Amino acid sequence: MSERANITIVGAGLMGHGIAQVFARAGHKVRVYDAFQASLDSLHLRIESNLRDLEEPADCLHLVSGHADLGEALEGAQFVFECAPEKLEVKKQIFTDLERLAPADAVIASNTSVMPIGSIVGELATRARMLGTHWWNPPFLVPLVEVVGTPDTELRHIEAMIDLLAKAGKTPVRVMKDVAGFVGNRLQHALWREAVALVAEGICDARTVDTVIKASFGRRLAVLGPLENSDLIGTELTLDIHKTIIPALDRSVGPNPYLDRLIAENKLGVTTGEGFRTWTPEEAQNLRKRVFAHLKALNTAERG
Ligand SMILES: NC(=O)c1ccc[n+]([C@@H]2O[C@H](COP(=O)([O-])OP(=O)(O)OC[C@H]3O[C@@H](n4cnc5c(N)ncnc54)[C@H](O)[C@@H]3O)[C@@H](O)[C@H]2O)c1
Repeated sequence: MSERANITIVGAGLMGHGIAQVFARAGHKVRVYDAFQASLDSLHLRIESNLRDLEEPADCLHLVSGHADLGEALEGAQFVFECAPEKLEVKKQIFTDLERLAPADAVIASNTSVMPIGSIVGELATRARMLGTHWWNPPFLVPLVEVVGTPDTELRHIEAMIDLLAKAGKTPVRVMKDVAGFVGNRLQHALWREAVALVAEGICDARTVDTVIKASFGRRLAVLGPLENSDLIGTELTLDIHKTIIPALDRSVGPNPYLDRLIAENKLGVTTGEGFRTWTPEEAQNLRKRVFAHLKALNTAERG
């Protein structure tokens, strides 16, 4: 790969503009396509605002260009990141278009949160160059990117992608099987399933669930993964604990009906002022600010 790669982002939303920012900061040329002009119109402003909040220079902005024509956005592309909405039919259509319009040697990635990559690329003729790169929000502050190949993805494309991401300062990991949710969202939503069940069963309220996590093992999680933790306490103790706790955990095979009830009551979360708990606009904004400040402080500390 050349030092300065040509990157194309499809979808200039929350993730797409942040991923564009990461690559521009790493010195790559980034073309961004979106099906809606409004997303392109605000692209530079949003990146500029992020960089201001991060107290980072905005001298990379000239490397990012917006394009309303997909073919134009793909000119010379070496790596393509699809960041369109999480709808299977939309992604399948985009991948069909990308196969036709992207240079033959471009590596094409989807940023789907949970869909198996095979369900998006289907039987496309050039699926050997297609894979998943699951970034986390905000992409310029959360280091991890899960790189997922299908059984048809060629290893050299996975390796080229991992190399690109690592050199851009990310923490890429390779996921060996193309399963729904990859690794991160399987772990995250195993926890969410139990969190919802605890509330649905009246064991505690939503605020208590979040307090328990944030004031206990959540404090350690950034430096101590569960399997490191298991080794510290010993696998024998882990087994003894699991003999009691695993049979007691929620094991429903679909979403908890409690979620359906919230939605039926228009308790959609911060947008309607109530979800699992009530929210004023100020409380929601303060929460967003706290998350950003926390992630920024972690990044600053890591950079020394
Ligand atoms: N938001 C997150 O926290 C997060 C985290 C990781 C992964 N993801 C995944 O990233 C992808 C994008 O999510 P997002 O949060 O950025 O969504 P978003 O709604 O903020 O952005 C999607 C963008 O795609 C554009 N778009 C719609 N249809 C299009 C099309 N046919 N072609 C090109 N662009 C189109 C929209 O105009 C919008 O700008 C999804 O697959 C999502 O699951 C999201």
